Amino acid sequence: MTKPLTIADLKKMAQRRVPKMFFDYADSGAWTESTYAANEADFHDIKLRQRVLVDMTNRTLETTMIGQKVSMPVALAPTGMTGMQHADGEMLAARAAEEFGVPFTLSTMSICSIEDVASVTTKPFWFQLYVMRDRGFVVDLINRAKAAKCSALVLTADLQIIGQRHKDLRNGLSAPPKFTPKHLWQMATRPSWCMEMLKTKRRNFGNILGHAKGLDDLPSITTFANEQFDPQLSWKDVAWIREQWGGPLIIKGILDVEDARQAAETGADAIIVSNHGGRQLDGAPSTISMLPRIVDAVGDRLEVHIDGGIRSGQDVLKAVALGARGTYIGRPFLYGLGAMGKAGVTLALEIIRKEMDVTMALCGKRDIKDIDSSIISGRQ
Ligand SMILES: Cc1cc2nc3c(=O)[nH]c(=O)nc-3n(C[C@H](O)[C@H](O)[C@H](O)COP(=O)(O)O)c2cc1C
Repeated sequence: MTKPLTIADLKKMAQRRVPKMFFDYADSGAWTESTYAANEADFHDIKLRQRVLVDMTNRTLETTMIGQKVSMPVALAPTGMTGMQHADGEMLAARAAEEFGVPFTLSTMSICSIEDVASVTTKPFWFQLYVMRDRGFVVDLINRAKAAKCSALVLTADLQIIGQRHKDLRNGLSAPPKFTPKHLWQMATRPSWCMEMLKTKRRNFGNILGHAKGLDDLPSITTFANEQFDPQLSWKDVAWIREQWGGPLIIKGILDVEDARQAAETGADAIIVSNHGGRQLDGAPSTISMLPRIVDAVGDRLEVHIDGGIRSGQDVLKAVALGARGTYIGRPFLYGLGAMGKAGVTLALEIIRKEMDVTMALCGKRDIKDIDSSIISGRQ
């Protein structure tokens, strides 16, 4: 295949390199996948304003997210089991992000541990927290993130119970991979993935195994989530988490104006308008359709970030125009990782950066900080 030019090219390549059960894990949403689809489709409906004969030299995409310098307003979203898209996936993605000058967010449900990622990076990364019933374990995770000098805690609020993805159930998804004939076949047909995976010892949930009581072996991510994630988690707990952490806090999974107002009350530094990439409440609206109302309601009190459906630099620019201070990509970087390892994550970021830069110029702007709704022509 020729060099991938788009995120869609990387996706096709990843599908050929990554065993089906793990590719499907990334490329799926809950139930009918209608929210997953809407996240992408609703970006397409937004049209940009073409402007001409303006000086477009000396362009810059540099800005800040929660006061931290970024080379463009795009962070890598926390994604569980990233180390199953490619061996040592979280370590590779974190290094790619660091070299690119954008934040990397490590999931609680990662394969490489907080300490693994800290050992290969020199700048702070962000840590995403799932709150477990065992609050001692939660404190331990927060302390490990502090010890690793993580510079933001991303508290995920939209996964107290887990949305059902049919593909994962049908595929019998698990980490470490199971060795049924079906799974062995899926892996055997992806030899380069297998070779890399055989070289690493990191094939299980690095933040959890050996750290949480009675969890030396995980039957499946779904069983684990069902048993361990705290369904009683409420707004009251956010203050406690904030106190334990004591640093910049981002609340992820806000899709409603009322919830955004509650989040602003907690004193969080930012919220991420997110529906978990369409993996939780199927039938919920797309994130980009909710963004303007949420920005209107709380944009003067905290930073509003967004994820879900961003597949190009144009999408990032549209989100920024509608008031997002920062954006996150989940699947685009996973596809890059699955396709080409660390180089693929860099390429995903490079594709998005170039598209954003050219789009900004053709909208007649030179500085990402000047982007506002004046670059939007309408919806179709
Ligand atoms: C494979 C996969 C695993 C994910 N795991 C997590 C996770 O562990 N924690 C979390 O907060 N969000 C998780 N998410 C949601 C992402 O952080 C993000 O909200 C979503 O991927 C954004 O949509 P996009 O993939 O369309 O960019 C996951 C998403 C995917 C695709």
